[in-house]
Amino acid sequence: MPRKKIVAGNWKMNLDRAKARELAGAVAARSGEAAGVELVLCPPALYLDAVGAALAAAKSNVGLGGQNMHDKASGAFTGEVAPPMLLDLGCTYVILGHSERRTLFGETDAIVNAKTKAALAAGLTPIVCVGETLEEREGGRTDAVVTTQVRGSLAGLSPADLEKVVIAYEPVWAIGTGKVATPQQAQEVHALIRSLLGSLASSEVAGKIRIQYGGSVKPDNAADLASQPDIDGALVGGASLKADDFLGIAKAFR
Ligand code: PGA
Repeated sequence: MPRKKIVAGNWKMNLDRAKARELAGAVAARSGEAAGVELVLCPPALYLDAVGAALAAAKSNVGLGGQNMHDKASGAFTGEVAPPMLLDLGCTYVILGHSERRTLFGETDAIVNAKTKAALAAGLTPIVCVGETLEEREGGRTDAVVTTQVRGSLAGLSPADLEKVVIAYEPVWAIGTGKVATPQQAQEVHALIRSLLGSLASSEVAGKIRIQYGGSVKPDNAADLASQPDIDGALVGGASLKADDFLGIAKAFR
C-alpha cells in the first residue's frame, strides 16, 4: 500500500477569527483539487472551534489539528490546552515539537516524547517535528541531531503506535526564511529517518510511516520535493495562509 500523502497547514499565531473561517471555507470548497491527498488545517487553538465549524459546514473531509498541547488531560496548568479539549473540538491531529516550540518555549525531546504518548493515548495523531539548525548543518551534525530528536521524541512507543505517527522533517534554517532544502538534501534526511524508524520498529512499520518535509514549501518548489521517494507530504507555514498556495502545494503531492 502506498503511503497516503498528507499536507498540513500550520497557521501559527496568524489571522483573526473571520479570516480563519474564510480561509478554512475556501480550502474546504476546493479540497477536491487535491483529491487523494489528506489535508489538515492547524489554526490557532482559539479558532479551532470556528474552523472546525467551517469545515463541517462545507461537508469537507479536511482534517483539523492543534499546533501544540499539554501532556496532561486536565489540571492546574494555566493557559494550557489538554488533549481531550482538542478532541472535543474535532481535532484528529496535533503538531508536536515544532522548532518554534523547541527553541522559543524550551521544549526538550523528553517533553515532546511525553506529549506524543499523551496524544496517542487520547486518540490524536501526532505530527512530530524534528530538524537541525544552520549551525548544526554547517558543522556536519545534521544526522546526529535528527537521530537524537527522533529517538528521544519517539522513545518507548510500540510499533503499533509508531505506525500512527506522522514525522515532519523541518530544517530550522528553512523555516520562514524562503531557503528551502534541495529535494536531495531533504530526501537524504527523510531516508535517514525512515531507516532509523526501521531500527526502532521494523522496515515494514517504517514503510508505513509518513514523513513530511517542512520549511519554505511553496507551490513552485513542491513538485520537486514531492518527487522524492521518502517525502510523503508537507507541513506548510507561510504558504498555508493563502488557499491558492496551500492547494497548489497539495496538488503537487497527488
Ligand atoms: P514555513 O513554515 O512554511 O513558513 O517555512 C513551516 C513550518 O514552520 O511548519
